[in-house]
Amino acid sequence: MIELTVNGRPQQVDVAGDTPLLWVLRDTLGLTGTKYGCGMALCGACTVHVDGAPVRACITAVETVAGKSVTTIEGLSGDRSHPVQRAWIELGVPQCGYCQSGQIMSAAALLARNPAPSDADIDAAMSGNLCRCGTYGRIRKAIHRAAALVKEVG
Ligand code: FES
Ligand code: FES
Repeated sequence: MIELTVNGRPQQVDVAGDTPLLWVLRDTLGLTGTKYGCGMALCGACTVHVDGAPVRACITAVETVAGKSVTTIEGLSGDRSHPVQRAWIELGVPQCGYCQSGQIMSAAALLARNPAPSDADIDAAMSGNLCRCGTYGRIRKAIHRAAALVKEVG
């Protein structure tokens, strides 16, 4: 049994320790908001937070997050009220949507450590998140909008 906290809830999972966190989230816990893209840490579709830092769940063995706190897109807020989610909705960022939970999780981690990122900060933080639909321009605008919303909330 491996114990971890997912979206604030303690969980015990009976899986091999080298099972990728992505499959534990999706298959064991039914949290399918986190997507599989490449399986090789190249696309960012599987991005979640571990103790607040963005990680690629596809290459993260679940045993390495034992005792840690994992946040997925389902746990970012209960009601889409996180500033990044609000900005994404306001600016209509997604196209097909497949990459977007990973984009949002990377953006949320960026804003948590840098509440007023420059374009260069955004590009550096988001460079590992690919979008086949080319929504990069809207993503950058939405991160600036989310930063403004964070400031408003104080
Ligand atoms: S599925 Fe994990 S980075 Fe692509
Ligand atoms: S919105 Fe389609 S891959 Fe990003």
